[in-house]
Amino acid sequence: MSGTPTSAQGWTVVTGASAGIGLETVRSLSAAGRPVLALALPDDALTALGAAGLGSVRVAPLDLADAASVGAAAELALGLPGGVRALVNNAGVALVSPSETLEPAALRRLFDVNFFGAVELTRRLLPALIGSPEGGRVVNVSSMLGRMSLPFAWPYCATKHAVEAWSAGLRMELHRTGVKVCVVRAGAVNTAIWAPAHVKARALLQGVPPERLDLYHKILERVVHRSRKMAARGLPPARVAGVIVRALRDDRPRRVYRVGGDAVWYGLGRRVLGDGAWERLTLWRLHADRPK
Ligand SMILES: NC(=O)c1ccc[n+]([C@@H]2O[C@H](COP(=O)([O-])OP(=O)(O)OC[C@H]3O[C@@H](n4cnc5c(N)ncnc54)[C@H](OP(=O)(O)O)[C@@H]3O)[C@@H](O)[C@H]2O)c1
Repeated sequence: MSGTPTSAQGWTVVTGASAGIGLETVRSLSAAGRPVLALALPDDALTALGAAGLGSVRVAPLDLADAASVGAAAELALGLPGGVRALVNNAGVALVSPSETLEPAALRRLFDVNFFGAVELTRRLLPALIGSPEGGRVVNVSSMLGRMSLPFAWPYCATKHAVEAWSAGLRMELHRTGVKVCVVRAGAVNTAIWAPAHVKARALLQGVPPERLDLYHKILERVVHRSRKMAARGLPPARVAGVIVRALRDDRPRRVYRVGGDAVWYGLGRRVLGDGAWERLTLWRLHADRPK
């Protein structure tokens, strides 16, 4: 662990702090002088984050797929002077796979990182959040894909659907405490989250028997192509971080903060069109958007 605590304010715990939206959130909170516990996978990125010398930021390891690591990070947070005021469940990974070759262990790991790990970390920090004199806050980073689904990428969508359901339930459960639970529902963001999943998806395609390769190959390529295109045109992660900071700061926070035009319009389109028309439109757009 590195960094120096500087304030008697409660701490904000941020997961997935080494890259993308999480890193920008930590930078932003640090610039505002808020004490932050930045949690990241124990790897080079964690070392780099520790060496960045961000004021009022402490850095510690967290692997959300490892129960012992979640427990240790929670213990550390609970022992911080001034207590924990807020938790930003931001860490996430993606997965793209034909269902036929989906690896059960990979699906479990995806849920461990994107859902079960976040639920467990939150559970452990709840006593501190409920007792926070500033009014505790949980900000869960979701996605427009938490309200819809896509072929091959449905496992990721399923984790975000779970985050949405959990957030709504937790908010109602805690309504008589000072703890507010918010969802930040982002559209496409220009980060590297999908890149490893795209590489892996092509490898998993090799496991499909040749007689069914045709069934998946073209549409999987389109999903990958479209997802890359959307990421390249996506919001800068700092924009989402700005909304997370707002959700942490607002006196009367919203239940859901949508970020990005796609999050707003896709959400609306999904509701207006209903299940069948939305699925047909999704498939039509995938088929129409050919890789050049
Ligand atoms: N990018 C988008 O288009 C988009 C859109 C909507 C919502 N979101 C959500 O935004 C959040 C942040 O994503 P991002 O786009 O900023 O992705 P990112 O740049 O890939 O950052 C993800 C963060 O999660 C960390 N992480 C991965 N596995 C972990 C594990 N086992 N335990 C703890 N931390 C782990 C990563 O660490 P390493 O870097 O060390 O792997 C990284 O710090 C995610 O919840 C994602 O679902 C993203």
